Amino acid sequence: MSDQVKFVLDETRIPKRWYNLAADLPKPLPPVLHPGTKQPVGPADLEPLFPMALILQEVATEREIEIPEPIRDVYRMWRPSPLIRARRLEQVLGTPAKIYYKYEGVSPAGSHKPNTAVPQAWFNKEAGIKRLSTETGAGQWGSSLAFAGALFGIDVTVFQVRVSYDQKPYRRALMETYGARCLPSPSPETESGRAILAKSPDSPGSLGIAISEAVEMAAKDSQVKYSLGSVLNHVLLHQTIVGQETIEQFELAGDDPDVVIGCVGGGSNFAGLAFPFLGLQLRGGRKRRVIAVEPAACPTLTRGKYAYDFGDTAHLTPLVKMHTLGSTFIPPGFHAGGLRYHGMAPLVSHVYELGLIEARAYQQVTCFQAGVEFARCEGIVPAPEATHAVRCAIDEALRCKQEGKAETILFNMSGHGHFDMQAYINYFEGKLVDQDYDENELAMALAGLPSVAA
Ligand SMILES: Cc1ncc(COP(=O)(O)O)c(C=O)c1O
Repeated sequence: MSDQVKFVLDETRIPKRWYNLAADLPKPLPPVLHPGTKQPVGPADLEPLFPMALILQEVATEREIEIPEPIRDVYRMWRPSPLIRARRLEQVLGTPAKIYYKYEGVSPAGSHKPNTAVPQAWFNKEAGIKRLSTETGAGQWGSSLAFAGALFGIDVTVFQVRVSYDQKPYRRALMETYGARCLPSPSPETESGRAILAKSPDSPGSLGIAISEAVEMAAKDSQVKYSLGSVLNHVLLHQTIVGQETIEQFELAGDDPDVVIGCVGGGSNFAGLAFPFLGLQLRGGRKRRVIAVEPAACPTLTRGKYAYDFGDTAHLTPLVKMHTLGSTFIPPGFHAGGLRYHGMAPLVSHVYELGLIEARAYQQVTCFQAGVEFARCEGIVPAPEATHAVRCAIDEALRCKQEGKAETILFNMSGHGHFDMQAYINYFEGKLVDQDYDENELAMALAGLPSVAA
């Protein structure tokens, strides 16, 4: 047993309930505010965008929420995902640390995103919805919702951030294979898109802009609902099956992580892995270090303000309290497209404010170095987003080597990079450079934060 590599659960161990961190928080999450009245929104305010079942999950306070059987049935296609011990990486690093990763790249779309795409599509189908609009950064989320839409007979329109639409034509082809329609954002299809194009015809786009387009499409058409791949409470909730499985897999391994790591764009793969562990801690269990890793070119947690802000660029969403770089901030076009978001999940922001987690920012070249090192030992080519978690796990393992400590390090390998090989080609050709955001632009975006009484 001691040299086991994969820790695998059988299908009967797919979690039956999602875990809701809100039930265990020492301080409740600040309310979501209506942008006009600045008063807390009620479920009815969100109804144009989401079906009521998902709205109720968004505001739920009970600790566990049952996963309907048809959703568990789909999860069975790839779940439980494996927990893998990176023994070869440990050897190459010469570290006394043990490194484990939860591998979410086994899903049909190649990442953790179908964990929430499937329930979102299913609850919409149950509410009689036939059309969904959404945004995608890396293309992982768009592919995942396209896949889920195909399963449940829902038409999906995806606004893909321009820079990633250009960088990753095969992601678009995958979405189209699943039957979705994919448009580059900003697009001429929406008022929000047209306004951006009028000012900057060559705009690389951003998740904030693509969200505006998708929200606008849903808000203007009662037949269309909107679906978001990260940030919101119900999205993070759906992802908690990742951490719940991991806790069981560590029991199989007879081990327990000291450090838990995830990359953060909107925060959903990080939360999915970390929140069940944080829940154990908040209910009296042991304290672990939990690290959220973000790109230095879009450093929401480490450089952003904790403030009420819009979730999108055109200011169509309600106001949420989160770490933000300002909703008009457009990050440079680095390769981890799924991490190019100006905000952070309110729940992740809240636990950061409470001192329950740490945050760290890395530039992209060092992340790709780590991704290549990982691939050469472990075989899996990480998605550019996931290389941030790999970088952090390797750095923690090297710290353990220096300190002579045999800690157990766990990270979320949120997806594979098979559709991201252009980024690796650029890296090998020396074309990948570290990119800094524009300080003036950040200052301007932060100065434009909406004013909300404390
Ligand atoms: C593979 C992968 N990891 C991580 C992320 C970041 O999103 P989140 O922070 O919601 O997990 C994305 C987003 O597209 C992704 O595709």
